Amino acid sequence: MKKISRRNVIRYGLAGTVLGIAGVAKSWDQALLAPTPAEVEGPFYPVADQADKDADMTRITGRTGVAKGEAIIVEGTITDISGNPVADAVIDVWQANAAGRYNHPRDPNPTPRDPDFQGWAVIRSDADGHYRFRTVKPGAYPATKTWMRPPHIHFKISGKGFRTLITQMYFPNELLNEADLLLRNKSPKEQSAMIAKADGDHENLTVYAYSIVLIPAQR
Ligand SMILES: [Fe+2]
Repeated sequence: MKKISRRNVIRYGLAGTVLGIAGVAKSWDQALLAPTPAEVEGPFYPVADQADKDADMTRITGRTGVAKGEAIIVEGTITDISGNPVADAVIDVWQANAAGRYNHPRDPNPTPRDPDFQGWAVIRSDADGHYRFRTVKPGAYPATKTWMRPPHIHFKISGKGFRTLITQMYFPNELLNEADLLLRNKSPKEQSAMIAKADGDHENLTVYAYSIVLIPAQR
């Protein structure tokens, strides 16, 4: 299995997750990456199957409309703690629409559903461990009367030989991040690993880089 390149380690934001021993490692090949922190699944994992779960959540097969909100790209690389890419990992993502509403029957948020927003995708990493999907930036929503969840995307990642990871990806420069009862419970290093990095644009859409480090199943 080939190692992820140093360039990609930097590009996909893995550098910030390198453990302290990196400073004494003789080469990047020996560096260990901190596993991506887990987070609760939350109450809104989809309950009804849907035909379209592809990598473009801004359109639904058979409909002509486009999801409301700011279209964005999320991409990154799935690796093990040594930086080896994890190919063919199943990446299951679900999120609220631009108005902060999930396509879930028990979401109490009164903001409108968006019939053109897919809301859920199940994709796979390629041979280099890379994945990419198009979606809209999710809206914030109230978890309780006094707690607004910042924009976030839920991830469940399963790679052969690795522990399934359930986590949440956050967006940079969001005021609500600081007050979030889940995110602020993490250490600064963990928070930094869970917040995607704006990484230029692709087809005029902002790209958010979010790489994921998995733990071997037997550990
Ligand atoms: Fe959520």
